[in-house]
This record gives sequence, structure tokens and C-alpha cells, in this order.
Amino acid sequence: MSQAPESIEAPSPAPANENRRGFLFAAGSTLMAIGGVLVAAPIIGAAVAPGLLPEKDQWISLGAAANWMPGTTVLVKFLNPGGAPDDGITRENACYVRCIEAGKFQVFAVNCAHLGCPVEWFAQSRLFMCPCHGGVYYEDGSRASGPPPRGLFEFSWRIQDGTLEIFSGRLPGLQEGT
Ligand code: FES
Repeated sequence: MSQAPESIEAPSPAPANENRRGFLFAAGSTLMAIGGVLVAAPIIGAAVAPGLLPEKDQWISLGAAANWMPGTTVLVKFLNPGGAPDDGITRENACYVRCIEAGKFQVFAVNCAHLGCPVEWFAQSRLFMCPCHGGVYYEDGSRASGPPPRGLFEFSWRIQDGTLEIFSGRLPGLQEGT
């Protein structure tokens, strides 16, 4: 008569298999985490970045309103508010400020309404002239002659606490219909 065999223990998995499984699990988890970050980063960036970047359109100070002499037109440079500090000279912008009388202004974009060349102010003839194709504008910015289809584009302006400010960022242009 044969005896019942003693209980047999199941063979334990080989240590090499355990190591390989652990490595694959860790590698898979890491790749999934990286993939999650890559997918989420642009979404988070788009949600957070607008609050961190400077506003493109904002009121910019051009100095004390009392500094302009009535009857004069002056070229004024300012920094584009939407730019970054390392934009260098490309961040510089300019406008012509015409002081009609104390507290009353017109502020023109320097760019010709034809193809955008910078116009120049000639105080003696009281005209803006464009060097590219001969466009001419009167001192109030209206078109005098040449190819420009309209007068110079104007910035909105206001006097805030005695300071002349213009609303800038994007240049005034045909897309605004101004
Ligand atoms: S760009 Fe000024 S006239 Fe053409």
C-alpha cells in the first residue's frame, strides 16, 4: 500500500522574473507620467500664461500734458507694451503728438496709410510726407495727395492725472476700421 505524498509546495517564481516585472512596471509608470506632463503642460500654460504676460493693449504715458506747446507736432518714442525685455530695438515704437491747444491733442501713428512707411513731419510746410511713394498729409492727419487712400491712423488718447496717455499695443490700422 502506497502512502499519500506529503504536501508539495508550489514552486516560487524565479527571482529574475520578479525583477523583470518590476522593471517593466516602473518603466511603464514613468513613461505614462511623462506623457501626462507633456499633454497637460500646454493646457496649463494656456490657462495660466495670459495672466503672467504683459497686456498687449494698454494706456501708455507720454509725459506731462502741460509739456506740449500748442501749435506744435512732436515725434515721441515709446516702448511697445506687448514686447519682452530682450526684444531690443524692435520693441520701440513712435507716434506724432499734435498739440492743437492746451489739453487738446491728436496722436498719429508714424506709418503711412498706404503701405506703412514711416512718414516725416515738416514743420515749415506743416505737412507730413511719406518718402516711399510721395504720400502727403495735412497737419490734422487728413490725406492731402498721393497714393494713401485715407488720412493717418490715430491713437486714442486721454489725460490722466495731468499725464498724456495713448492706448497702444497693436498699431491702429485698417483692421480696426479707424
Ligand atoms: S507707403 Fe507712403 S505713399 Fe506709399
